[in-house]
Amino acid sequence: MPKVLVSDKLSETAVQIFRDRGIEVDFRPELGKDKDKLAEVIGEYDGLAIRSATKVTPTILEAAKNLKVIGRAGIGTDNVDKAAASKKGVIVMNTPFGNMVTTAEHAIAMMFAVARQIPEASASTHAGKWEKSKFMGVELTNKTLGIIGIGNIGGVVADRARGLKMKVIAYDPTLSEEKIAQKGAEKVDLDTLLARSDFITLHTPLIDATRNILSRENLGKTKKGVRIVNCARGGLVDEAALAELLQSGHVAGAALDVFAEEPATENPLFGLPNVVCTPHLGAATSEAQENVALQVAEQMSDYLLTGA
Ligand code: MLT
Repeated sequence: MPKVLVSDKLSETAVQIFRDRGIEVDFRPELGKDKDKLAEVIGEYDGLAIRSATKVTPTILEAAKNLKVIGRAGIGTDNVDKAAASKKGVIVMNTPFGNMVTTAEHAIAMMFAVARQIPEASASTHAGKWEKSKFMGVELTNKTLGIIGIGNIGGVVADRARGLKMKVIAYDPTLSEEKIAQKGAEKVDLDTLLARSDFITLHTPLIDATRNILSRENLGKTKKGVRIVNCARGGLVDEAALAELLQSGHVAGAALDVFAEEPATENPLFGLPNVVCTPHLGAATSEAQENVALQVAEQMSDYLLTGA
């Protein structure tokens, strides 16, 4: 009987599916934050089910003598050393669809929040200040939204943005003009997106081609008054440069769910007035967490039981 370790907080649904499929499962979410203990026990398991807290390093993989599959309940697999996994013949699978709507909705919520300064206005009202004239916002209608990466999540964002009557342009070198048009956006190159967008939202994985895509130089090419939303990965944006451009007033606002270092307890963007922050909540809805748990458990079970 194959044995699976769940080392992050995954919905009980996943545990139940493994059991129903005849797979022995240990639910030990505390191990995601204890790499030494994880390295000690990983040798017993054929499968490892994770979210984002567990970092699957070469050391963990070295100790994983029986491991055949790592299942990431979520989309980004940047917490897994994929080169080391593939060297050992360990399959890495994710759940590309389970949280796409939830993450897209968070990006739209963040865009509204930064357009109308909702968190600051809420904090001020709670404090009894009634600063009605301080919080002048902008409409989304007729504004240009630039989407960097129009895959599954970016595609849902484009759909929702068109419903909000925004003009949607997208930079995605992996997709044709026709495919991008089918998603409701106009294909443009990166410089055009930077120059034309009133709002920019990022929806790419963090890979070599996208790391620091909003670099100091590229941020400098944006339109004055742009607002930037990042619910993808922190390493996509130069945080120090963004902080300077916010302070100079070139960038009018930023809404960030992800940070270069997570958990983020200190960051050059924290405390700036026009910055909305959430602690990597992009996939944090009950619906998305059920979806990804179910999908990862089914996929891993199929692989461990049938090799497919
Ligand atoms: C993902 O990659 O699926 C999201 O960033 C969600 C997460 O890591 O929790």
